[in-house]
Amino acid sequence: MATVLAIETSCDETAVAIVNNRKVLSNIVTSQIEIHRPYGGVVPEVASRQHLELINQGIGQSLATANLTWQEIDAVAATCTPGLVGALLVGVSAAKTLSIVHQKPFLGVHHLEGHIYASYLSAPELEPPFICLLVSGGHTSLIYVKDCGVYETLGQTRDDAVGEAFDKVARLLGLGYPGGPIIDKLASEGNSEAYWLPEGNISLPNGGYHPYDSSFSGLKTAVLRLVQKLQQENSKLPVEDLAASFQATVARSLTKRAIACALDYGIKTIVVGGGVAANSGLRKSLTAAGETANIAVLFPPLKFCTDNAAMIACAAAEHLERGHTSHLTLPAQSRLAI
Ligand code: KG4
Ligand code: ZN
Repeated sequence: MATVLAIETSCDETAVAIVNNRKVLSNIVTSQIEIHRPYGGVVPEVASRQHLELINQGIGQSLATANLTWQEIDAVAATCTPGLVGALLVGVSAAKTLSIVHQKPFLGVHHLEGHIYASYLSAPELEPPFICLLVSGGHTSLIYVKDCGVYETLGQTRDDAVGEAFDKVARLLGLGYPGGPIIDKLASEGNSEAYWLPEGNISLPNGGYHPYDSSFSGLKTAVLRLVQKLQQENSKLPVEDLAASFQATVARSLTKRAIACALDYGIKTIVVGGGVAANSGLRKSLTAAGETANIAVLFPPLKFCTDNAAMIACAAAEHLERGHTSHLTLPAQSRLAI
């Protein structure tokens, strides 16, 4: 049973965690959200500098919380891709340095693989195959998890990630950042059938549409046009109804695609990950559709859905068990397919 210390700095969370296989021993996450909030989004250079400020403290805190010394750590891991390259570099460089100093193997982990492994932290008995619906500020993917390291991306967004769409729609409705939780709250007070909005289907030459891919940029533009029309009519913006209609459209679109993947591939489990897994509309819609289709739907606790290093440590531990390690020349890369 391997004990791994992992670092996650791909975006705006400085995270360090220690996991013993699928058991979390410490999970330190320092969010930079308040620093980026005035800008309405993450400023990459500011994020890198904050990671530098916070990383050493996170490593010390993680070891102290787990009550472990370096002798008891088997390997050091870090998210190496995808993400903001300057931000990734901080975590990767720190992990490589610790690996050299303490003479432990180093493992670079793909961020999306981490999100897949997050589901094991709250359901340690879970085993592939399953479908992972990954919905965050940076990603919208349907991944067929066949085995450790064996993944097939069945569906993805062609443009904006779903969390990005929540944030952009919140901005154009004059709400704050990040938009997801605010839209979620307002949606509970609105009528989800007040406005028809496009689900973001990707048309195919045969006249049908792609069963698993989606587009959220068109949906965002449709909300923008609707807002402009309502403003021209001088009516007070019905933000609750707009939020509810937008959220219901997103939930319907994601649910349809995730269930289609599971049914088409004969898979009985769907696991959800990423910050948008917190969305109450998606939770309700996918859970109900899963019950109808006899598919188990797992929503891990939010602390494992949003960016954290425990999921990275868990993925690294599974790879280490199989004898996999990374070379110290492994670079931090802004983009790489899983
Ligand atoms: O996974 P995450 O914490 O960070 C990455 O992007 O990797 O996801 C953040 C995204 C943001 O776009 C935020 O607006 C969205 O998750 N989000 C939500 C909710 N809570 C967070 N979206 C919809 N409903 C929510 N309740
Ligand atoms: Zn993420």
